[in-house]
Formats: sequence, structure tokens, C-alpha cells
Amino acid sequence: MNRSQATKGNHIISAGVAAASLTTSVTRARAFVAGLLAAAGLLLPAAASAQQVDGERLFRQRCGTCHSLEPGQNRVGPHLSGVIGRMAGSVEDGRYSAALRESGIVWDSQSLDAFLAAPRQRVPGTSMTVGVPNAAQRAAIIVYLEGAVTR
Ligand code: HEC
Repeated sequence: MNRSQATKGNHIISAGVAAASLTTSVTRARAFVAGLLAAAGLLLPAAASAQQVDGERLFRQRCGTCHSLEPGQNRVGPHLSGVIGRMAGSVEDGRYSAALRESGIVWDSQSLDAFLAAPRQRVPGTSMTVGVPNAAQRAAIIVYLEGAVTR
């Protein structure tokens, strides 16, 4: 090996070291971004499923005694399968008050929210007397009911 070759070799080595340290920092940055993405990825589905679980649990606790999600299964209240987009008081064989039947309401997330917040205020004379005063709980229940459209 003559001197020039050695120098060249050194340059190559130092370039190699520089590249390696560049690679290291890129790798670190990648790892950091990947870490962020992983954290976001972990958080987002967790938040979404927490809401689903909540809505389902709340529905079972607060509504399930009187309402089924099975089409045709009417309890004290009408079944709520596909309630979004449905005309109030329109379930066959549902036991309705005249007030609700004649309310002209079409159920969507807004009309449900108003009704569930204070049923007797929204529809005076309704036979559904229990409401859900907590807005976050209403939202979770409504999201859950939206998912019940296709059942
Ligand atoms: C104690 C029994 C009872 C509970 C608990 C109850 N409901 Fe009701 N629900 C009724 C009755 C009875 C009606 C019919 C009201 C009427 O005709 O005025 C009704 C009607 C409804 C309607 C209108 C359905 C339609 O076909 O027009 C919706 C929507 C509804 N309830 C949602 C809920 C939700 C959501 C919950 C839980 C937060 C809940 N209800 C809790 C008894 C209940």
C-alpha cells in the first residue's frame, strides 16, 4: 500500500464513519417518528374502542331493560335496531304514546340527543320518562346506536 492509497483509504474510512453517524441519527429520527406513530396508533384505537365499550355498556345498563336491538323484539319500549333514520313511533307493534307517534321526529344523532337529554321536555306526554343528563354518555350511546343500524 503506498501513501496515496493509505490516504484514500483513510478518507474512505472517515467518510464511512460520517455516513455511519448520519445513518445513526437518521435511524434515531426514524425510531423517534416510529415511536410517535406507534404511540398514536396505540392511543387512537384505544380511545375509539373505549367509546364503543362505554356506549355498549351504557346502553345495556340504562336502556337495555326496556329496549332490545333485535328487530321485532319490543319490550316496554320499541326495539332500537336501525333507529337512526327512522320515523319516531313507527315500529310495528311498538307500544307508543300518541305524543311520540304524532311528534313528527325523525331520529338522527341530533334529535336523539335532544330527546335523550330530557324526553318529557322534548316530547311532552311521552311514556319514556328516563333521560341521560350527561352529554358525553348520550354521545357514546348514540354512537353505539348508529352502529346498530345494520343489525
Ligand atoms: C323504563 C323503560 C325505558 C328505558 C330505561 C328507556 N326507554 Fe326509551 N322508550 C321507552 C318507551 C316506553 C318508549 C316509547 C315512548 C313513547 O311512545 O312515548 C321509548 C322510546 C324510545 C325511543 C323512540 C323510539 C321510536 O321508535 O320512536 C328511543 C330512540 C329511545 N326510547 C331510546 C332510549 C335510550 C337510548 C335509552 C337509554 C338511555 C332508553 N330509551 C331508555 C322506555 C324506556
